[in-house]
Amino acid sequence: MRSSNGQRGLTPKLSIDPNVFTLERERVFASHWQLIGFENSIVEQGQFFRSSFNGSEVVCIRDKRDRVRVFQNVCRHRGTLLCEEASGCFKTAMTCKYHGWKYGFDGSLVSAPNMLDTAEFEKEKYGLHEIRCATWQGLIFCNASNTAKDLSTFLAPLDSVATRYRLKELQIASTIHYDIDANWKLLFQNFNECYHCPSVHPQLTPLTNYRDAENDFESGPILGGPMKIREGAETISHDGRLCGTISSGLNDLDQNAARYYTIFPSWFLSLFPDYVMIHQLSPVAFNKTRIRCDFLFNPITVNSKDFDSSKVSQFWDETNRQDWEMCERVQIGLTTPDFEPSPYSNLESLLVAFDDYYKSHISEK
Ligand code: FES
Ligand SMILES: [Fe+2]
Repeated sequence: MRSSNGQRGLTPKLSIDPNVFTLERERVFASHWQLIGFENSIVEQGQFFRSSFNGSEVVCIRDKRDRVRVFQNVCRHRGTLLCEEASGCFKTAMTCKYHGWKYGFDGSLVSAPNMLDTAEFEKEKYGLHEIRCATWQGLIFCNASNTAKDLSTFLAPLDSVATRYRLKELQIASTIHYDIDANWKLLFQNFNECYHCPSVHPQLTPLTNYRDAENDFESGPILGGPMKIREGAETISHDGRLCGTISSGLNDLDQNAARYYTIFPSWFLSLFPDYVMIHQLSPVAFNKTRIRCDFLFNPITVNSKDFDSSKVSQFWDETNRQDWEMCERVQIGLTTPDFEPSPYSNLESLLVAFDDYYKSHISEK
């Protein structure tokens, strides 16, 4: 087991100061790839979903050449929110409801009623603002920096695991949304340790031993690894029984373990023998984080007659809420004047790694 070397937690100010959150937008979020959604939510040309990226509204759409495109979800005329629905499919163009400007699926402004005689107006200059995006294993990511390394390079350490679990082929069976009154870093820190599992998640005790975690990655932006499932249980669910079929391609350990990874700064990837859970984090303020949690299964499972994803989604909904409650309590506790965190336990070694990586970005360069 890796040691925490007695390192202490981050200074509370970093989680309770709105100015730090503003700084994080520039120094932390802008330079990293952030998960915004799933490719199989937009299969048809013109199909779209709304998401948020770096505090802004964005719309992700499949264009007429089948490419995934992401634009600011704001009309170039007077700034109206363009798409109101969470998802849908445009037939021919994205139309602003206010004055009827129409944008193609490639973001170009295709018509603007009564604007032709307007001085200084050139239609070509008023297409939607595009955001750099890329896909990996069926997931869609955005990046606000033109200099960040390619997504494929950034996520290469997870290629093998994503291939074995056939991430790209999986289908979303259910989704849960949460609004949490806690700083995004507290959620990352919580997910990176199971020290709290016996006291916070008694339902996990029959399924995994909280001291049995191993780390595939113990420094840098990707952290985590496998935790063996106890003998007698098959997966992580209420009764320990499988909810879906086991995908071919999994190795022995994959078939008998839960794998938990956090990917800085916007998502958690949890892999089980028969399903995958993805948490997508959108920090909205220094003390507020929105989370979308998806449960993905292989197509054979999703199309089978008796399939019921609530067997695992309800289990995790309960577990998630237990976690969020603790993070919200920490958020309140950190405002206590003069509070200083104690040294981390050795079971919190990944928090040391998370804090170090975070500090290397937030500190003045
Ligand atoms: S604000 Fe969109 S058309 Fe006027
Ligand atoms: Fe937890």
